[in-house]
Amino acid sequence: MPATTPSTWLNPAVILLLGTLLAGCGEEAKPPAPTVFTAMPSDAALAQVYDRSCKLCHANPGAGAPLTGDTNAWAPRVAQGADTLLDHAINGYNGMPPMGLCMHCSEEQFLALIAFMSGQHFQ
Ligand code: HEC
Repeated sequence: MPATTPSTWLNPAVILLLGTLLAGCGEEAKPPAPTVFTAMPSDAALAQVYDRSCKLCHANPGAGAPLTGDTNAWAPRVAQGADTLLDHAINGYNGMPPMGLCMHCSEEQFLALIAFMSGQHFQ
């Protein structure tokens, strides 16, 4: 009697189909724009702070932080309002460490950094 063997899965047509499906999935998850990794605030002092703290996580796709310039990731956060964002930056929020590891940063600097990363302007 004919047996169905696992070798069905080695059929080239099946492999081709799986490959196409996987490639299709890859299209969906686009890697972040390269500017995420190189963008810097234009203000020199701010750039230094950003480079030493925020950037470690906010330009690191593995950190779970909203990436710099990723307006989609920032949109729901920005919707909370500047006060909440500032509060979360200063007091911490889940994986976001208090003060974003910048212990000497002022409120103005935090707001400027958040504006830079989110692409939004706050007053
Ligand atoms: C050690 C990693 C790390 C560093 C350093 C860091 N962040 Fe974050 N940040 C995170 C993570 C993770 C989140 C997402 C937290 C969440 O939504 O659960 C986050 C979220 C935020 C948010 C959004 C909070 C909200 O309400 O959604 C702001 C604003 C923020 N960070 C500002 C900063 C600023 C400004 C700096 C630099 C001074 C900084 N972060 C440095 C990890 C970091």
